[in-house]
Amino acid sequence: MNSASEVDNPAGQASHSHGANGPPRRNFVTEFAAIVTGGLLGVIPAVAGMLFYADPLTRKKKGAGGGEDGFNRVATLAELPTDGTPVRFTVQADRVDAWNVFRNQTIGTVYLRRIDDQNVIAFNDICPHLGCKVDYKPVDSQFFCPCHSSAFDLEGKKLNKIPPRPLDVLEVKVKPDGTVWVKYQDFQGGIEEKVVVS
Ligand code: FES
Repeated sequence: MNSASEVDNPAGQASHSHGANGPPRRNFVTEFAAIVTGGLLGVIPAVAGMLFYADPLTRKKKGAGGGEDGFNRVATLAELPTDGTPVRFTVQADRVDAWNVFRNQTIGTVYLRRIDDQNVIAFNDICPHLGCKVDYKPVDSQFFCPCHSSAFDLEGKKLNKIPPRPLDVLEVKVKPDGTVWVKYQDFQGGIEEKVVVS
């Protein structure tokens, strides 16, 4: 009389995980899952590592200082005299190098002049001659560089032949809330053209 297993398997073939002579056969699904899991465990750290090292290359480039579209909030209209007298402000922004973000760093200084409720002129206060800082002289209503005596009028125009070009004007936005935003840039000194260097 047949045993129970023979009744279940009349052909007499092995019906479970043991072959006739070889090692136990492994379930295909289990084996496949093990391969996939092992692959993922190897691939995920590798991809994470690649993304980490590629981050400085793929990080979205921002304008100088990393502000909103390259513009940084510098002042409010209320801080600017209505008669157009220039006032110097520092420009602060987050600086980003390959791996780090440095919050609220001073990236430059500018003079702002209020023309009306919508219009403000911004000058980079670096002398276009050789890079000293210009000062505003209220008595003469002009900008003056102490290094080699370059002078500029309130519009930034040259008042002598020492500087190669006028003061460098920067892009400005006056927002509806009265805040004044400047796109800070530095320019190459000693040449007539206005060439951005940062
Ligand atoms: S650097 Fe300003 S006059 Fe020379």
